[in-house]
Amino acid sequence: MNARVSVRCDSTALEAGNVKVFALRLPASHGLCHDIGPGRYVALEYADMAGGMQQRMYSVTRKPAPDVFEIAVRHTGTQGVADRLHASLEQGAAVTLLYTGGDITVDAVLAHRQVLMWAGGIGVTLPIALLRELAQLARDGRPVPRVTLYLCCPRVQDVSFLHELLELDLTCDWFAMQVFITRQPIDSDSRHFRAGRPSDQMLAALPLPDAVLLCGGHQFALETRLRVRACFPHAQLLIESFSAPKAKAPTPSSVPLAMPVQLPAGAPAAMPLDIPLDLPLNEALNAPINMPPDPPTAMPARAVIAIAGQALSWTADPGKSLLDNLEQQGVPIRSQCRSGICGSCRLRIISGDCRREADFCLDEQDVRDGYALACCTYPTAGELTVALQAGGLATGAA
Ligand code: FES
Repeated sequence: MNARVSVRCDSTALEAGNVKVFALRLPASHGLCHDIGPGRYVALEYADMAGGMQQRMYSVTRKPAPDVFEIAVRHTGTQGVADRLHASLEQGAAVTLLYTGGDITVDAVLAHRQVLMWAGGIGVTLPIALLRELAQLARDGRPVPRVTLYLCCPRVQDVSFLHELLELDLTCDWFAMQVFITRQPIDSDSRHFRAGRPSDQMLAALPLPDAVLLCGGHQFALETRLRVRACFPHAQLLIESFSAPKAKAPTPSSVPLAMPVQLPAGAPAAMPLDIPLDLPLNEALNAPINMPPDPPTAMPARAVIAIAGQALSWTADPGKSLLDNLEQQGVPIRSQCRSGICGSCRLRIISGDCRREADFCLDEQDVRDGYALACCTYPTAGELTVALQAGGLATGAA
């Protein structure tokens, strides 16, 4: 749901070493009060540490009042929006809410009997939102699925909501969790803590889940999805990913970018540039993963992007995705997740070379038919011609 509404910070609280929880208040009786809830996500517009306005998405972790919702934000130290939120969003300050989305709410989980939630780092925000809802339903005497949470964090201090998760584990017969500490030596494995990552033997020993929820960065989601597909081929897969595919750095031989640009008639003067690194978007997925061949290691000297049927072409910004390049030139194109999940940036490659990152949307037939996701596609050499249609969706005809 599109909104663009100013929301005020009611309070902030430090959750873990580098995670803050912000309680944000909507204007009284705003229509979004019904649209926002645990498991949904909100797109916020806020400045980064350099003052540039950016868009980021965050999972709603709790809704303590009809017009108040909470998000949890990890301080990254990269001078981005998250760091600015930590530094400046205090009680009474405002942030712009652009829109809401997401379909992995508690209802999506309640449809199952045995659920595995597997989260990386701050990806625990969606599981904690759903677990709180399930705990309330269980207290009300409603049946809830049995849930196992695997949470992977680099260090113990990075584990958010630890007290709450432990209490749930120790007091609820339907919930069990294990925290995997991946980069800090820990003395011994215990019921709740282990060193390293979940092994295949651990996965095989789990009660067979009929749904698996994966929450984490793009690479985490890609890798764990493959493992889950291999171990639990019949489980429904629910994925939340909150970071964009990593662009490869251009080679030093890349050419300068000062090239003539023609904008299509009616194109907006400016589109948001260089958008998110912390992007939650969640979708229920069961399509086979599209894993491309390994990318070439070198970036060619010059790539040109052309729009089919329009007198529009320009030299690609090396190392940036097709989506970034299109937005950078003011070409209207839809996008949401920027992680290859939602499919909204789908377009068609008419001719030319490109490099594709793995995505969660397209199947092999789509790829054979020339479809690509702009957020997961990188121009490589020569002229890359793509087909769009009004609103940024790909046309069916070549
Ligand atoms: S923006 Fe969602 S798949 Fe590209």
